[in-house]
Amino acid sequence: MTEKKTWSDRFESALHPAIARFNASIGFDIELIEYDIAGSIAHAQMLAHTGIISASEGEQLVEGLQQVLQEYQRGEFQPTVDAEDVHFAVERRLTEITGDVGKKLHTARSRNDQVGTDTRLYLRDRIGKIKTQLREFQRVLIDLAEQNIETLIPGYTHLQRAQPLSLAHHLLAYVEMSQRDWERLTDVAKRVNISPLGSGALAGTTFPIDRHYSAKLLGFERVYNNSLDGVSDRDFAIEFACSASLIMVHLSRLAEEVILWSSEEFRFVTLKDSCATGSSIMPQKKNPDVPELVRGKTGRVFGHLQGLLVLMKGLPLAYNKDLQDDKEALFDTVKTVQACLEAMTILMAEGLEFRPSRLQEAVESDFSNATDVADYLAAKGVPFREAYNLVGKVVKTSLGAGKLLKDLSLDEWKALHEAFEADIYEAISPRQVVAARNSYGGTGFEQVQQALDMARSRLNSDT
Ligand code: ARG
Repeated sequence: MTEKKTWSDRFESALHPAIARFNASIGFDIELIEYDIAGSIAHAQMLAHTGIISASEGEQLVEGLQQVLQEYQRGEFQPTVDAEDVHFAVERRLTEITGDVGKKLHTARSRNDQVGTDTRLYLRDRIGKIKTQLREFQRVLIDLAEQNIETLIPGYTHLQRAQPLSLAHHLLAYVEMSQRDWERLTDVAKRVNISPLGSGALAGTTFPIDRHYSAKLLGFERVYNNSLDGVSDRDFAIEFACSASLIMVHLSRLAEEVILWSSEEFRFVTLKDSCATGSSIMPQKKNPDVPELVRGKTGRVFGHLQGLLVLMKGLPLAYNKDLQDDKEALFDTVKTVQACLEAMTILMAEGLEFRPSRLQEAVESDFSNATDVADYLAAKGVPFREAYNLVGKVVKTSLGAGKLLKDLSLDEWKALHEAFEADIYEAISPRQVVAARNSYGGTGFEQVQQALDMARSRLNSDT
């Protein structure tokens, strides 16, 4: 049996040690300590401000709490499982430091509104960090795009060669995805930044507290309007896990492309030694472990989203201990997204090299200019569907003859349709095929340059 617990004298005996371990969250919610202390400082200041405790008591509490944080940071304060959770641990240590006044900290508060406050402060902070990382990721992709406006790469649909692209256009697609990720986090942050503090255990409190005062001290934008909702809402964590899942979808898709590109079958990129690993048995191998891990870790983030949704679905109002189990999912989501963003940013910044000659060879050796032949005829007045059918036939006969479209003689073109002139060769060259797609948002070089400028100017804005 462990020592007698923090709660009331209603309890005669201590918890069974295994149950104490099972019940405790200190092993993981210690992650919240700096936010727990910040929340407690604001609460103590509010108690003094409203006269619920004296100004001097308020000051002693604030100083004591600051000392607890310093002790923790210096490694001198290391709470163990008998503290149960971070909230009890801090309060207990505070009371050791300040004596009886420490016992006043929990006036007009419950661990239920406290843990909700801590979790929001933590997540608000981490969202800010992830947003900064997303900007860095974008910057790296934009730099890479800038160097590769004129580099061509095959574009695919169904993983079949479709139409050639500017490599910059391809990279900027990921900048757009991460822009939505950035905007989504900005939006989620609005609902993270609401104070539940002062909701009490579930029903509010008998003390004349000022919830707006503590909320303001903590930088919250507003307070929960309903105390039951305040202590039991975890929508913000789910919304975050959903946004995190989408970030992972995007990183994983890019990871998958890098894996394909680095294969012997594609050979579009070479992985640099700083970001690739070898095999313990096959000496010739260079493996794309970084993008593979990113793709793999995506699964656990999706799992956390699912876990949080299921955690919440059957909970009657208000607080239930099930809610303690949101933390590991949330912390792991944050850590995984941060680690994957960092790794992918390094990989794209310095871990791979595109192979221009191989890319050029790829875009020249296929029929991805077939649409342009149809467009050529359509521009000369041939109805598009008719032109499309004709080009289908040309592709078929060329394939049979082992030729590409560029290998057909002008006589052969003219035999197919009298509208063909010598300018057909220019019209179907990969460079022209790309340049011609100058519609807004297309891969034409002018469009890509504009998209790049826009993406770069967005980097320094807060929208
Ligand atoms: N460790 C708990 C959690 O994370 C704190 C709140 C406990 N509240 C309670 N009524 N037992 O949810």
